[in-house]
Amino acid sequence: MLLPETSRLQFTTDLNICRVLNGMWQVSGVHGHINPTQAIQEMFKYIDAGFTTWDLADHYGPAEDFIGEFRRQLMASRGQEALANLQAFTKWVPRPAKMTRQLVEKNIDISLKRMGVNTLDLIQFHWWEYRDKNYLDALHYMRELQQEGKIKHLALTNFDTEHLKIITEAGIKIVSNQVQFSLIDRRPLVKMVEFCQLHNIQLLAYGTLAGGLLNEQYLGQPEPGLMSLSTASLRKYNNMVDAWGGWHLFQQLLSILKQIADQHQVSIANIAVRYILEQPTVAGAIVGARLSVSEHLQDNARVFNFNLDREDYQKLETVFRLSRDLYQLIGDCGDEYRR
Ligand SMILES: NC(=O)c1ccc[n+]([C@@H]2O[C@H](COP(=O)([O-])OP(=O)(O)OC[C@H]3O[C@@H](n4cnc5c(N)ncnc54)[C@H](OP(=O)(O)O)[C@@H]3O)[C@@H](O)[C@H]2O)c1
Repeated sequence: MLLPETSRLQFTTDLNICRVLNGMWQVSGVHGHINPTQAIQEMFKYIDAGFTTWDLADHYGPAEDFIGEFRRQLMASRGQEALANLQAFTKWVPRPAKMTRQLVEKNIDISLKRMGVNTLDLIQFHWWEYRDKNYLDALHYMRELQQEGKIKHLALTNFDTEHLKIITEAGIKIVSNQVQFSLIDRRPLVKMVEFCQLHNIQLLAYGTLAGGLLNEQYLGQPEPGLMSLSTASLRKYNNMVDAWGGWHLFQQLLSILKQIADQHQVSIANIAVRYILEQPTVAGAIVGARLSVSEHLQDNARVFNFNLDREDYQKLETVFRLSRDLYQLIGDCGDEYRR
């Protein structure tokens, strides 16, 4: 076990999670080839180290099947009790259309079957088009399924504050919203965090490492060409860096991060994740895991061994002040998916 007790969070009364979640978009196929057998073998290393919580989605290629197969292997090799130490948070991302009870249940049943569970720990719902109000029907039917025991908790992903409020006012209990939140993209601090604090909703952050750009490897380097950015994640966040202030300013950020990292004897990635874990209402940071390709368990474990101090925050502020306002430019959380 690599992780200390401080890595754990009582996320809900019945779910205790690791605050660094393993992101499974990285097994979807758009981040390079994944070897399924090896990938599932590697999942043992993650839970043995204490990284017991997985973030996935219905559309992340084989991610839900990997959870299903991993559970089967875990049970066969270590018995039923071992399953209690595993949390798997999936998503449902339907095409906007009329939502019937039958359609919602059919899709939840698919995830249950693929993941080999009777109840989903958490279902994070995404909706592409706010003008289509059917999202409220979908959530009402998911609540029925929750009451019937197919879902433990309802959550959202990429909802803005305005629509999170509409859903909350409709009486639907949401435990978390998964949004982009990083040293580059601090939009949740504008409105989302305050609303979540008031309504006891937690944030799960993605993009925390900017796909891997927040890393020593890019310090002092010229801007990478699109061809050299080998994953969909790197390309996504390279665009975000452009919008935020560009490569030159990003180099200033990396250089300040390196100073802070050296002070704490950790890595730039550790500082990037630590910063997000210290933000209000953040339950956890999701760090992409390219199972069977790369692995950063030892390094990511260091996130729980230190805190950022006032001086560190002051140094970061000097760069934040020079960056563009992404809230003005893009809008609230998730608006980048709806332009
Ligand atoms: N809800 C949504 O709309 C949404 C959108 C995007 C992502 N997500 C979730 O968030 C997860 C994370 O994805 P992301 O795209 O945001 O990527 P990310 O976590 O910012 O970056 C992941 C990459 O960072 C690198 N990395 C990890 N630990 C490192 C360390 N200690 N030092 C140096 N590099 C390190 C790895 O690169 P290498 O593999 O190259 O080593 C890894 O593939 C996804 O899997 C998914 O679960 C959700």
